[in-house]
Amino acid sequence: MMNYNEILDSYKKLAALISNPSPDLQYPEIYNALGSLEEDLNLLQILTPSNEGLNGVILLKDQVVALLNFVAGLNHMQQQQQAAGFGIPPPRSQSPSSDSIDEPITSEQLSVKGFKDIAGMWELKEVLKMMVILPKKQPQLFENRRMTNSLLLFGPPGTGKTKIVHGIAAEANCSLFAISVADIMQKYLGESEKTIKNYFEMVRNYKGFSILFFDEIDSISQRRGSRDAGYSRRVLTEFMCQMNKLEETRNCLVVAATNCPWDLDPAVMRRFQRRVYCPLPDDFERYEIIKLMLDESGIEPQALDWSSLQKQTKGLSGSDIKNGVQAGLDKPLLDLQVNRLWKVTKSGFFEPCDKNTSLEENVVCMNLDDIPDKTVRASKPKVADILNALSKVKPTVSQNDVLKYQKYNEEF
Ligand SMILES: Nc1ncnc2c1ncn2[C@@H]1O[C@H](COP(=O)(O)OP(=O)(O)OP(=O)(O)O)[C@@H](O)[C@H]1O
Ligand SMILES: [Mg+2]
Repeated sequence: MMNYNEILDSYKKLAALISNPSPDLQYPEIYNALGSLEEDLNLLQILTPSNEGLNGVILLKDQVVALLNFVAGLNHMQQQQQAAGFGIPPPRSQSPSSDSIDEPITSEQLSVKGFKDIAGMWELKEVLKMMVILPKKQPQLFENRRMTNSLLLFGPPGTGKTKIVHGIAAEANCSLFAISVADIMQKYLGESEKTIKNYFEMVRNYKGFSILFFDEIDSISQRRGSRDAGYSRRVLTEFMCQMNKLEETRNCLVVAATNCPWDLDPAVMRRFQRRVYCPLPDDFERYEIIKLMLDESGIEPQALDWSSLQKQTKGLSGSDIKNGVQAGLDKPLLDLQVNRLWKVTKSGFFEPCDKNTSLEENVVCMNLDDIPDKTVRASKPKVADILNALSKVKPTVSQNDVLKYQKYNEEF
């Protein structure tokens, strides 16, 4: 560990390096150096709290960080401008490292239109309705009563965690602030905490009810570089501090999702009043997902032999099933690539010939590439295509992983 003078010197050296950057200055190295210096500084603060000089060092540190963010941001901007073929812009008077936050997604902008687009997950839907729709519609029920307004969703990938959060926002017609924690953690030093704080402040002051959704919440304690534990701790502290204030907030729901719950700090985990496991879909849910995916395809779900499909799709996630059905629906488009015989309709469209095409029809032999634009029609997808595509899907979640999630769910 460095002593007071060494830390002071190191900050001064870093300040000199940053304020007069050489073209090959490695910003990640400087960030890492700052991270480790900060750890030493934290230790020094604990060991010698009465050292009056420390305040000066902390001030210097803040200035170095601000300077670095400014210079690194400027450098990044110049590189982008050069890549786009522009000259180097004049320096800006303001730090380009922005603490701006994204606009909310309104219910009209969501691709999910409500719970009808989500198969199964019945219990979770009820919980979400109780948390979002009830306080909106029947606020008198919540007078003089503590609100349940934080929810953690965990489970294997592709089980609809993100989709159901979009679903409740659409169902309740409220705004959604969707935040990727992994992205936040890549921000400049000091910016991550600020962004988190800004989002919480934003929803607290928001007109009407909104949902603050932290996706990949487990990334909150992970950041590039080995020696920036101090940094992660600060972000965690800010997050927990904001979550504590949530008790007094009545116009928002904070939801977080993760597929690595074991990586989540227990203190963060404790901040969520409700924790819900989103497992792989059961037999009935898998059927419901297939039905949803076949909607508008022209294939009746009853045409699928569910008793054999039930076994075949066991262990697949919602996302695996979606991809499988999509591959089946795409089969007619794929077949077009190798088709040579086309039936030309009276209105000038080219349709692939099949066994029902009669010799009297206008048939031509051509490659797809030679057919005029916007004149090709594909055949309708067939049940056999869907079954075949689903039989080829490999589960993305292994049996071992399923057991790991189940064990975790029982223990926490
Ligand atoms: N129950 C479901 N109903 C409808 N679609 C589903 C369902 N489960 C999964 N899907 C589909 O699977 C895809 C992945 O879902 P989503 O992104 O919500 O999963 P996730 O649990 O958030 O995954 P990850 O943990 O990897 O972020 C989506 O396109 C969604 O349409
Ligand atoms: Mg997700």
